[in-house]
Amino acid sequence: MYLILLGPPGVGKGTQGVLLADATGWERVVTGDLLRTAKDAGTPLGTQAQQYMTAGNLVPDHLIIKMVEEKLSTLSAGTGVIFDGFPRTEAQASAFAMMLEALGRTIDTVVVLEADDEVLSERISGRRSCPSCGAVYNTVLAPPKKDGLCDVDGTPLFHRADDHADTVQNRLNVYRRETEPLIEYYDGSKAVVHRVPSQEGPDEVQSKVREALGVGE
Ligand code: AP5
Repeated sequence: MYLILLGPPGVGKGTQGVLLADATGWERVVTGDLLRTAKDAGTPLGTQAQQYMTAGNLVPDHLIIKMVEEKLSTLSAGTGVIFDGFPRTEAQASAFAMMLEALGRTIDTVVVLEADDEVLSERISGRRSCPSCGAVYNTVLAPPKKDGLCDVDGTPLFHRADDHADTVQNRLNVYRRETEPLIEYYDGSKAVVHRVPSQEGPDEVQSKVREALGVGE
């Protein structure tokens, strides 16, 4: 199964991707995480991407496409893959289709997570992330057991630079303009598109995702 998780910032793509990967053993390819890792490592890609990410804009297509192409070459054959945060533009979607065709693969399923802007803002403003293991929390909706520390490894949590209120509105605008049209793009493809309401808690949303995909509890 090659699956795309699509949806606006803060809707829960990362949260649902982790739960689904735990349940299925599928790998995750998360372009936001790949870019943050590159930035922290000070690679040329990370340095180039930083200014776009901090402003809440998309990193240029050619950089993303090259990064995903490299990542695809490292995936084990036959494993299921969850793509989170990619593609985000029609140019990325077309390039992706060609890359997969060369590998004899195709996108089977697209899961579109949906929630109101008010819910997205609440989720994003409270998000705290672990720089070490990538676990994601929310100060109000999913707090860690010890304030400010990761439950998994005790590392101090951080507030993403692009999660501040002035950047969040731009990220939402960019999503509506550049990425939302991909829902129609995939509706017109051979992939099965599932729209999943995502206003409820993480476990309830995960049940709906698995029900849509027909994968077990
Ligand atoms: P990226 O990191 O992908 O950010 P995003 O798409 O904006 O998505 P988020 O990570 O903000 O949210 P999410 O949907 O994963 O929600 P999460 O599960 O964390 O990208 C960052 C930047 O990188 C982009 O702006 C761009 O610059 C660049 N980039 C990345 N990919 C690119 C590409 N393909 N092309 C160009 N540029 C690219 O949840 C959010 C919060 O809500 C958490 O606190 C969580 O605990 C909480 N929560 C989640 N679900 C629930 C729930 N059901 N109930 C209650 N709380 C919940």
